Amino acid sequence: MIEQTFVAGLLRDRVAFVTGGGTGITGGIARGMAQAGARVALVSRRMEHLEPMAKSITDAGGEALAVTADVRRPEEIETAIKQTVERFGKLDIVVNGAAGNFLCAAEELSPNGFGTVVDIDLKGTFNVCRAAFEHLKRQGGCILNISATLQLLGTPLQLHASAAKAGVDTLTRGLAVEWGRYGIRTNAIAPGPIEDTEGFARLVPAPVREKLQRRIPLNRLGRIEDIAQSSVFLCSNAASFINGAVLVVDGGHWLAANNLMGSA
Ligand code: COA
Repeated sequence: MIEQTFVAGLLRDRVAFVTGGGTGITGGIARGMAQAGARVALVSRRMEHLEPMAKSITDAGGEALAVTADVRRPEEIETAIKQTVERFGKLDIVVNGAAGNFLCAAEELSPNGFGTVVDIDLKGTFNVCRAAFEHLKRQGGCILNISATLQLLGTPLQLHASAAKAGVDTLTRGLAVEWGRYGIRTNAIAPGPIEDTEGFARLVPAPVREKLQRRIPLNRLGRIEDIAQSSVFLCSNAASFINGAVLVVDGGHWLAANNLMGSA
């Protein structure tokens, strides 16, 4: 649990805007931030994805707002941010977690399929950062982009997502440099294989899972909680001099994935 790891109220008085915030990794991040004292806006296309997490946060004594918006539509994101600021008074933290993905060989991938994932993951991240800027600038703040490790190697069936996440890493470094002067820190987390997610269930075929775990130096798959804890840390004052980092949270998986010597 986040509370047992960090001092109580680590993110007290912070307002977080979390896209993809209802389910999976970003749902866990939203819950982790709420447990650390932040007030949280959960944003995704479908209200039915948001309401259960919003209820679970409020039932636990936190504050959550569920807002529908598509990160591909800048005007919807602007409205969602406006609603968040009207409700909570300001904006301190933006988590770009909304993503789309599927397995598809490059030769079968349509231009629209490639473009759709780039539109959601990469352009969506820019759209949200851009719309949040004026609010973050007021008192300084923190952007956390959700990247991946796919793009660090040549991952088959993932050309579209790899290209998008490589762009997210670049955007992270660029914004860190441009917006650091406003007291806005921009960082990313690159999760490795996280077993308790819909994406893992859908994208990692069952026969591969055990082999995958054996290739992770820490000999376990990741959990949503691992990413939530790293996210709370990066958005807290403990990380106040970390800007432009892409923090890989994968138990050492990608470093070991193509090791010429085999596993240690
Ligand atoms: N294989 C190949 N192409 C696919 C595909 C698949 N499994 N899924 C979508 N596409 C293509 C579509 O064929 C379409 O291209 P086309 O017009 O040339 O046929 C294009 O992507 C857009 O698809 P569409 O379903 O209209 O877009 P959407 O905006 O409704 O949804 C996704 C796009 C990526 C979000 C959708 O695949 C999805 O809902 N995925 C599950 C949720 C998810 O990805 N969560 C993230 C967990 S990692």
